[in-house]
Amino acid sequence: MTERLLNLKSEVREELKNAKSVHELNAVKARYVGKKSPLQEVLGKMREADAETRKALGKAINEFKSFVEEEVSARLQEITAAEIQKRLESERLDVTLPGKRFSAGRLHPLSKTIEEIEDICIGMGYEIAEGPEIETDHYNFELLNLPKGHPAREMQDSFYLDVVHLLRTHTSPVQARVMQKAGGKPIKIICPGKVYRRDNDDATHSHQFMQIEGLVIDKDITMADLKGTLALLMRRMFGDELEIRFRPSFFPFTEPSVEVDVTCFKCGGEGCPLCKGTGWHEVLGAGMVHPNVLRMSGYDPETNQGFAFGLGIERIAMLRYGIDDIRYFYQNDPRFLKQF
Ligand code: PHE
Repeated sequence: MTERLLNLKSEVREELKNAKSVHELNAVKARYVGKKSPLQEVLGKMREADAETRKALGKAINEFKSFVEEEVSARLQEITAAEIQKRLESERLDVTLPGKRFSAGRLHPLSKTIEEIEDICIGMGYEIAEGPEIETDHYNFELLNLPKGHPAREMQDSFYLDVVHLLRTHTSPVQARVMQKAGGKPIKIICPGKVYRRDNDDATHSHQFMQIEGLVIDKDITMADLKGTLALLMRRMFGDELEIRFRPSFFPFTEPSVEVDVTCFKCGGEGCPLCKGTGWHEVLGAGMVHPNVLRMSGYDPETNQGFAFGLGIERIAMLRYGIDDIRYFYQNDPRFLKQF
């Protein structure tokens, strides 16, 4: 009988060696200690045996059972260790590999330009004002002394929504809105925003672009204030060496009116391809607020004066960053945008 048990032990060892999974291990265990195990045969013999032999057999059987128990758990450990090892190898991570780079968003060059101008103006005591992009003929033209029959009021130059409403053609209507609200008090505002004109899009024209309007109203405001303000603003934007010059111009809402040029920041005014040999860049329109405009929005032109200016943001950004086509600003091409 002991011999039979010894044989069984080596069978168990052999089968455990071949078992490859927990499932197979359990099957081996069941086969040798379960209800149908060869031990049953030994147990059957026990009934016939004498007390002495029975005792010895019982001991041998228990010993066999714990043998199976131990062998199975030893093999279980081997199998799990091998499985872990296999997984570690197949799921190996190289923590030294460089990670994937996510490209971060950034400010659009136009937003950057607006923010810079706003910062400079806030430093000079300006407040930021806003106005609607859908305007009425009244604010966009009438209150700005743009007489009926002025070409800007024609259908072919403006986007009319109905007889009264249009997409504002400039940020100047905000002048009238702010004046009406201020009720005769001093004003010092800038207003950045989108404007719309019926232009065919090309390298220098866009049917929608952006402006920053400036308006100052107080007592004893002169052209010298306008010039000093614009010189400071432009020097902050383009460099301290820059000069500005006024050229006579015409806007219905300012009198006198000027076009403002700055010396070319690339050649310092000597003339280069960027400034087409002139040494100057035209950057904005400005002037002293027309007495009619003051009067229509509640200011007495005898006691109040003001200046206004309107600059094209795209134009400033194009000069600053050396961009030669306005359409780049609106195409949202990441190759363009990531340069700023
Ligand atoms: N609104 C004018 C334009 O769009 C610019 C301007 C603003 C001129 C304020 C003078 C004063 O061309």
